Amino acid sequence: MADTLTLKSYNDIPTVDFAQNSPEASSYDMFRQWRAATPLVKVPIGFGHMVLALRARTVEQVVGSETRQLETESKILQGVFDGPIYDFIAQVMLFANGEVHQRRRQPVARTFAFKLMEAMRPKAAAIAAELIQERLGKGPFDYVNEFAAQIPARIIADILGIPRSDLPVFMQWISDTAEAIGFIDVARRPQIEKSLTEFSAYVDKLLADRRANPRGDFLSEYVAATAASGDMTEGEIRAQVVGLILAGSDTTRNAMCMTLFQLLQHPEQWRALVADPDGLKKKASEEGLRYEPVVSGIPRVAIEDMAVEGYLIPGGAMLAVSLLSVLRDPEVYANPESFDIHRTDQQRWHLAFGAGAHRCAGEALARVELEEVLAAIARLAPNTRIVGQAPRLNPGAIRTVDQMRVEFA
Ligand code: HEM
Repeated sequence: MADTLTLKSYNDIPTVDFAQNSPEASSYDMFRQWRAATPLVKVPIGFGHMVLALRARTVEQVVGSETRQLETESKILQGVFDGPIYDFIAQVMLFANGEVHQRRRQPVARTFAFKLMEAMRPKAAAIAAELIQERLGKGPFDYVNEFAAQIPARIIADILGIPRSDLPVFMQWISDTAEAIGFIDVARRPQIEKSLTEFSAYVDKLLADRRANPRGDFLSEYVAATAASGDMTEGEIRAQVVGLILAGSDTTRNAMCMTLFQLLQHPEQWRALVADPDGLKKKASEEGLRYEPVVSGIPRVAIEDMAVEGYLIPGGAMLAVSLLSVLRDPEVYANPESFDIHRTDQQRWHLAFGAGAHRCAGEALARVELEEVLAAIARLAPNTRIVGQAPRLNPGAIRTVDQMRVEFA
């Protein structure tokens, strides 16, 4: 419990309406100004406020033991009290805390491991090469959906042993059910629930198949790990698989868009990558993730009164690390407002993947996909260009690109 007497009050935290300041480019200006002036701001949300932590040094505390992850309350506030969406949110690791979270995360962490993901490198490179060759020299195409969305879907389908013929329906389920995680459009609820139900039944079949015929792949190892721990319900076992698929789709797709866009905006850096794809692919993807992070923030709830940077945050208050701000904190990054794949101050634990107990469980796979895609484009289509309008980012928990037409050449 914080010593309340010496602390500045919650009401003293400046209130800023960042939401009114899209497009995003101007948000970065606002973050720069506010971050220099204060470690915390309040932004309006619903009927109240959320505190945004702007500086990198507060990250560990904001996601640490004094706060908790939101559970089902965000759905309840949207009027979703039951049904497939509610059940999914109630069972997935991302929206759980403490022992329940650990119980759900452990079998995934054990099996969805670095070694398996590294083994996917040649696969990711081959899938990228195939999609590039099909479009090379054939004029502009919808890069977001025809290319960037295909990579994570095809890779995870491969990891799960899903046949190519099921890809279209699988991708439709991903697209519909990803909406279950964010703010739900009431009119879309029936479609989201229908897709989530079908998707869950499909995952159940995959799980049943691996139980009957284990074959040493990720799902076989995963069902074995859940059986060994013995304390997960069938719904939880399934929800982690659906959760992995969803958490890895929009995030990776948008990172692939934004990083390529930034590289092409900086022709000398693009040329450097073209000259040495394998040497620079890691640096290029790290800088893309820093400069335009796909996950904009990490929201939490204060468990009890807590002191953050000299302010009293009352128990129950909402607070979030602003990844848009901390990834441009000059205390960590030199010239943070410039895109520079050669920078030497990237953090070992890249903040774009979060921090603490919920730090991204798919980071190794995301890195493999991003790096291999960038290297493949640089190698096979060095004269690639953006055609038409520059992509714009929709603000939100996961920042999505509105459109991006590209010509591979
Ligand atoms: C560029 C791509 C990605 C980014 C930027 C990203 C970012 C993040 C962040 C910031 C979190 C923490 C959220 C929080 O604490 O509230 C997270 C969690 C998570 N991510 Fe990722 N992610 C990416 C790709 C992936 C991939 C490819 C997968 C799996 C296939 C994945 C699976 C997960 C899971 C399961 C969690 C929940 C972990 C937990 O609650 O313990 N992510 N991700």
